[in-house]
Amino acid sequence: MNVTSVGEATGDLGQAAQLGARSYGTDADIDIDTDSAVVSRTSATSALGSATASANANIALIKYWGKADERLIIPRASSLSLTLDGLTTRTSVEFLADGGPGDTGDSDVSASNNATDTSAIADSLTIDGKPQAGKSLARVSRFLDIVRERSGIDAPARVVSSNTVPFGAGLASSASAFAALAAAASRAVGLDLQPRDLSRLARRGSGSACRSVFGGLVKWNAGHDDATSYAEPVDDSKLDLAIVVVLISGEKKPISSREAMRRTIATSPLYDAWIDSCASDLSEALRAVAGGDVRRLGEVTEANSFGMHAAMMASRPAVMYWLPETVEALRAVASIRESGLGAWATMDAGPNVKVLADGRDATKVADELRSRLPGCGVEVHRPGSGVRFER
Ligand code: DP6
Repeated sequence: MNVTSVGEATGDLGQAAQLGARSYGTDADIDIDTDSAVVSRTSATSALGSATASANANIALIKYWGKADERLIIPRASSLSLTLDGLTTRTSVEFLADGGPGDTGDSDVSASNNATDTSAIADSLTIDGKPQAGKSLARVSRFLDIVRERSGIDAPARVVSSNTVPFGAGLASSASAFAALAAAASRAVGLDLQPRDLSRLARRGSGSACRSVFGGLVKWNAGHDDATSYAEPVDDSKLDLAIVVVLISGEKKPISSREAMRRTIATSPLYDAWIDSCASDLSEALRAVAGGDVRRLGEVTEANSFGMHAAMMASRPAVMYWLPETVEALRAVASIRESGLGAWATMDAGPNVKVLADGRDATKVADELRSRLPGCGVEVHRPGSGVRFER
């Protein structure tokens, strides 16, 4: 497999170096091929191409919850996350034949879009071997419309995606999915995006996806418009971090994060207070990162997540992702910490608990969690790479 990282792929070594002070998941034995997947664009009908890219999920330490602009996906506050290894989406995008409205191409999936607010072009989408229709296809098609509009290519696409992330379980699957899709689709049409611009594009698919463009610790600057809202890597060389995932349920969540955010903003009396706290939480977290202080980072991580869930629960009706096992897991984390190990909990839009751990303690933390929570899956994830391209 030939793979390039996003910075390498753009040929911009300056930006590649900025992907992080450390190299995550580097491919010393992998050929760097900077232009094999780039297709030159000559006209709207003949310039078709394909590309494959992979991206890893990220877990936010300082959360994104709520949009200032729904269409552009500009968040209410900046956030900070860790991109993880082993929670990966790999996506191939192929633009097909002389596309136009109603052209289904030679796709293996009948892809007429029935949902409202859909693209005029019939794309096909296969996820983990299953052809998709309805909302997920419509969402991907709307995202591809942005790529089509920018490139001038008016053709349907065949999108084939595979995951090692359980879908809709609050394990940030949309982040890896839209980061990989943005990378593969933009490359397939010959848009040679710089990492920051790729992050802006991925953001349009799912906000948290902009952070998965980069490896390791990543900050998403909220900004105020399309140009100013992007992610960038943060130097985390003074810290050894890991995330221990406690998988309580892989079921699809009862309410999508998108809808839950809207409800929290519209009805929770605690939302504004939580958003106000995010700026100081982020500064505190960045100071802890710069000083190599994992305990300080862990404490602010846990507090920020509990504040977000408090705001969700105060929504009317309540947004409640927790299950009884969630509370058990949170108590286990607190007691493991009291025993002297570095472990702090964080949660997203689902019942699963993610534990930010001092990298040196992560295996022990996972063993403790396994013995205290026999019904749950427990996995250690180390920092992972940003977007990678394949030939
Ligand atoms: C709780 O990025 O999935 O995981 O922008 O609407 O697609 P959309 O939302 P999404 O929300 C992620 C929310 C979160 C916190 C975080 O990742 O920062």
